[in-house]
Formats: sequence, structure tokens, C-alpha cells
Amino acid sequence: MVDEIKCDRTPQFHSHSFQEYLEDLYLKYKHLHEGAVASYIPELAKVDPDLFSICVITVDGQVYQVGDYNQLFTMQSISKVFVYGMALEEHGRDYVLTKVGVEPTGEAFNSIILDERSKRPYNPMINAGAIATTSLIEGSGPTERLNRMLDMFQRYIGHEIFVDISVFMSERTTGHRNRGMAHLMLNFGMIDERIDEALDLYFQQCSVMVNCLDLALMAATLANNGVNPITGEHAVDARYVRDILSVMYTCGMYNFAGEWVYKVGLPAKSGVSGGIIVIVPNQIGIAVFSPLLDANGNSIRGIKVCEDISQEFGLHLF
Ligand code: DON
Repeated sequence: MVDEIKCDRTPQFHSHSFQEYLEDLYLKYKHLHEGAVASYIPELAKVDPDLFSICVITVDGQVYQVGDYNQLFTMQSISKVFVYGMALEEHGRDYVLTKVGVEPTGEAFNSIILDERSKRPYNPMINAGAIATTSLIEGSGPTERLNRMLDMFQRYIGHEIFVDISVFMSERTTGHRNRGMAHLMLNFGMIDERIDEALDLYFQQCSVMVNCLDLALMAATLANNGVNPITGEHAVDARYVRDILSVMYTCGMYNFAGEWVYKVGLPAKSGVSGGIIVIVPNQIGIAVFSPLLDANGNSIRGIKVCEDISQEFGLHLF
């Protein structure tokens, strides 16, 4: 039994024992070889399935890391969380709600269904909703929009980041389903005619390279009400953190969202490259990276690690 994480802004981490706890957790699941790496985007299929890392960063900037935490991979759907925050900052809650809902679907991440009544995509965490959100990003042209988005990610991460051009091209060449959704949403007035630009930006955000440590810092920034706990930079307006975490809580794990909330009880987001971020508000950001996925597209080791941490420290919100 390791020492408890206290529920206030200065968590009483006992660094030695918590680091040991993470190392044990890593060893517990290191040899679990269930699942398969994502293959629907050819470039993603090339990843080493053995890669595995766990990182935790506290809101006062303590860092715990184990495994392949420097290994770069593409952010994929985890990017949707942060772009949603950017859209909220640029347009406000009410306008964004007219373009993308906040209802879980119980469907796969690439579901093409729109809300029958409002014609909106159900939520910003599935592909359709994320494309609608991305289409809201402002800028005078595609380059400015991309640069503004990269700047936003950099505020969370604290250093320069890049788009992996091979993954971007692979997404772009194979993304017919996303293209189909975008046309459907244009038909219903949910996005404007700049479909190819919106899709390119969406494929680019999915192809931003990060490591597990970067993701933990992004999660910790949300846990810290939008302020990066290492650099002190304001990454997102605190008034939208609640919106972001609410949508992560109900929709972040796709059609596993219900079971996730039942067992882990924390806002989270997964991506098909194998990352999962979890936010413990006012305490810590957690990131796990392991590219072996289950049928829902969630990292198998990632889910197990988060279930264990939540259980061990009593982090379930209820
Ligand atoms: O739209 C796509 O196909 C992807 N690039 C988004 C992937 C993703 O991570 C969805 N989730 N698990």
C-alpha cells in the first residue's frame, strides 16, 4: 500500500513510494500482449507493440515516469480535447453548442450518425464532432490556422512540436469516411464549404508528435485549471476547463465511456496510437502509452493501469 494522494492543491506525494508504485505497475503489465496495434491507417501499423510508458505529473509540477516515456507517437484523438478548448475560447460555449453537441453516442469513434433532430454531431470526441470543432478554428488561411493550433498545443506542452508528415499523408489518403462525414455536415450547415482545409487541419492535429511525458503535462495542465504546472503558462481559459472535462467524462472513451466511468470514474481521452490521458482535477494528470488496442480503439494496458491507479488511491469521483 503506498501513501495516499491528498485531495487539495498541494498533493502530499511521497515521491519515493509513488515512483516505486508506478514501476511495479509497469512490471505488472509489461508482459501483457493482448490486443492489436491500429492498422486502418497504414503508417500507424508500423509501431512497436511492446512500447509502454506511464507518466504522472502533479499540479505542483512533480514528475513521475516509467518505461518508454521519451518515445514519440502521434497524438491522434487526444488532440480533440484541446482543439475543443480552443474552439470554446474563440467562439464561446453557446455558439459551439450550435455546431457540436455534448451527448455520448454509445457508438464507435468513426460513427457517421448525426443527431436526428438538431443535425449536429453528437459530441466533440468522436470524429464527426472533432471535424466540426476543428472547422471552427480561426485564422486567415490554412497555415495560420495550423500555426495557431500548434501554438495552443505548445502552451500545454512547453516546447516546440511537429506534425509527422507520413502519418498526416496516410490519414489524408485513407480518410474517406471522415471526408464523407464532412460532406454530410456541410449539407446540414454544421461546417462551411472549406471541407478540405478543415479535414487537413484535423488530420494534422491527429498527426502531432508527442511523448507520454508531454501528454501527462497536457493532462496536468487541465487538472491545474488550464495553467501549465511546469512553465506557469495559461494554456486555456479556466472557465472552459469544466466544459472540456465534462465532455471527456461522458464521451472520452468512445463506446467504452460508460464502463470507464463506472470503474475509473475520471475524465479521460484515448487515441488510436495507444495514448490515454486522465485528469484528477486539482491533483494530477496521468498519461499512459501502449499501442496494443482493444476492439473499441482504447489501449488495453492503458485501461488496466488507470483502473489500478484509480482503485489504489480512491480517485473515482464518487
Ligand atoms: O480520424 C481518424 O481516423 C483518426 N486519425 C482519429 C483517431 C483516433 O484516435 C480515434 N480514436 N480512438
